[in-house]
Amino acid sequence: MRDTVLSVAGDLGLPAALVTDALGYLTPETEPLVAAQVAALEAAVGTGRDVPWPIDDERFQLLALLGTVPAARAWFTAQRIDDGIARDSLADLTPKLRDYGVAATGVDWLAKVVTCGVFTIGRLQFEPAAPSPAGRAFNTHIPESGPLDPAACDASFARALAFFGARGDSTTRAFVCSSWLLDDQLAAYLPAESNILNFQRRFTLVDSETSDAPARLEGLDGTTHGDHAVAKFIFRRPLAELSAVEPRSTLERALLEHLASGRHWRERTGVLR
Ligand SMILES: CC(C)(COP(=O)(O)OP(=O)(O)OC[C@H]1O[C@@H](n2cnc3c(N)ncnc32)[C@H](O)[C@@H]1OP(=O)(O)O)[C@@H](O)C(=O)NCCC(=O)NCCS
Repeated sequence: MRDTVLSVAGDLGLPAALVTDALGYLTPETEPLVAAQVAALEAAVGTGRDVPWPIDDERFQLLALLGTVPAARAWFTAQRIDDGIARDSLADLTPKLRDYGVAATGVDWLAKVVTCGVFTIGRLQFEPAAPSPAGRAFNTHIPESGPLDPAACDASFARALAFFGARGDSTTRAFVCSSWLLDDQLAAYLPAESNILNFQRRFTLVDSETSDAPARLEGLDGTTHGDHAVAKFIFRRPLAELSAVEPRSTLERALLEHLASGRHWRERTGVLR
């Protein structure tokens, strides 16, 4: 277990401290529990389906995720998936673990990555087709990997159709996306030629603007998932800590000004036109 984790962490370029801390979790008592979780994840490789997490400890979760990577790699090879897609898909673990950690990223997302339920194809990430508010569609994600270049996005969508088509799904053509990046309120702040607004114009919103209602039921106290998403993805800190932030870009100024005026950001769902 230890050797596998160290080797995978080295390949992924994870910070040594992160891995050393996680390895500190391993004892003769805990190692079989981690091995059992790896086995559960391995059984899901190729499906991306949810796997229960019996232990709510980030170190346990990190070890199990890294321990599953060899099985994911073997699956990519057996499926004859393009090396670049295989490598880039697993490489999503690196910035998420390094910059956010397991809990802040969400262990279910990381498990989806290691069970090959999400593929990085060029600039964007895609899940195999599933029912959505817009019918059967590929779910689209926007990783934080440089500017959202329009030509790179065009290429990603086209390659995704070819990729899933070659894997047997040539009937689905629809893409959906749920993100704070689709919040149409951003248009009041960003220039029309910005990459974010360019990306928005590709999509027709299919939800209502109240769909990301204040998440009081989740104890979020009047704030929205969109508010928490911008705090996490743009400011990398909890929403409650944004008052101390000095904005460094048009987007950051916009996000803070909107919140300071008592309004909220929303996660919206759109379907690619
Ligand atoms: C989506 C993303 C790639 C867009 O970046 P981009 O291509 O540079 O975006 P735009 O061209 O629209 O940028 C418009 C303005 O916003 C700023 N901006 C964009 N992304 C920023 C970020 N992550 N942090 C700070 N400012 C940002 C730009 O600097 C620019 O402002 P400026 O003219 O004052 O420099 C980027 O915002 C990002 O990586 N976000 C995190 C990932 C994410 O949120 N994914 C969705 C999860 S649901």
